[in-house]
Amino acid sequence: MKKVLVTGAKGMLGKDLCPILEDSGYEVVETDIDTMDITDIFSVNSSIEKHKPDVVIHCAAYTNVDGAESDKDTAEKINVTGTENLAKICAKNDVELVYISTDYVFDGNKSEAYLPYDEPNPLNVYGLTKLKGEQAVQKYCEKYYIVRTSWLYGIHGKNFVETMISLAQTKKELKVVDDQIGCPTWTVELANAILKILDEYEYGIYHACGSGKTSWYGFAKKIFELEGLEVNLTPCITDEFPRPAKRPKYSVMDNGKLCRRWETALKDYLMLRV
Ligand SMILES: NC(=O)c1ccc[n+]([C@@H]2O[C@H](COP(=O)([O-])OP(=O)(O)OC[C@H]3O[C@@H](n4cnc5c(N)ncnc54)[C@H](OP(=O)(O)O)[C@@H]3O)[C@@H](O)[C@H]2O)c1
Repeated sequence: MKKVLVTGAKGMLGKDLCPILEDSGYEVVETDIDTMDITDIFSVNSSIEKHKPDVVIHCAAYTNVDGAESDKDTAEKINVTGTENLAKICAKNDVELVYISTDYVFDGNKSEAYLPYDEPNPLNVYGLTKLKGEQAVQKYCEKYYIVRTSWLYGIHGKNFVETMISLAQTKKELKVVDDQIGCPTWTVELANAILKILDEYEYGIYHACGSGKTSWYGFAKKIFELEGLEVNLTPCITDEFPRPAKRPKYSVMDNGKLCRRWETALKDYLMLRV
């Protein structure tokens, strides 16, 4: 039986990923900051030497996109130094490394879906730190998978779907940004894609996000339609809601048919969350 050590196991993705790995026959070691602080190379080293995993799936990250603009050092420490530590220790112990990355490594200037080997050019601190993490993985490891995902939602974390549903309880009118286009992705869909990549694909870079594309406005509209919520929704432009971090206008990724259409996954998520 293959042993997988998961970082960030208490996060939104980690909590859905671990039981899915177990169900498909992996022995899973769940770690988070309390058991293995990735910014401490000694902690990483002793954990890997103790558990001797075949694979590490690295989900831990500093994920506050706007927060990273004013807390660059923390974002850098977790996303870059933390990933570097894992990459070095995995390479030393001949352990495969799966690194979860983001569509925010791209600048959004393309008008068709990004391919895995398109040139990254992040617009914000979070994207830059995640890209530096990718580079560390490529520098130290030979046995690696970089899996980029986007617009993630799941039952175990703060996310756009839950925010929209809770806003609908108190507001009858909402304005949502319509000039950022991307691919919403359910954590369970991503977890299944990671499993498939691990079991069937060669080492390299992959995109695992919902198929198709939409704007945040289109995403919100679909959520309300599927939930039967009556909200007067108006599209608006990004400039109307200035945020600390700049976002790509178009971060659609070609997923090589790894995941189902985003609307289908959303329907399943909404059905299961009740
Ligand atoms: N969420 C999205 O929309 C999105 C989009 C694209 C890509 N991604 C990527 O997908 C992955 C999973 O994201 P997610 O949304 O599941 O993240 P999340 O919910 O924020 O979970 C991240 C986990 O990492 C832990 N962590 C933070 N610092 C750590 C440290 N020094 N050592 C060990 N663990 C630490 C966090 O603990 P605390 O909570 O205690 O800090 C948390 O449990 C990340 O790599 C992220 O960059 C996410």
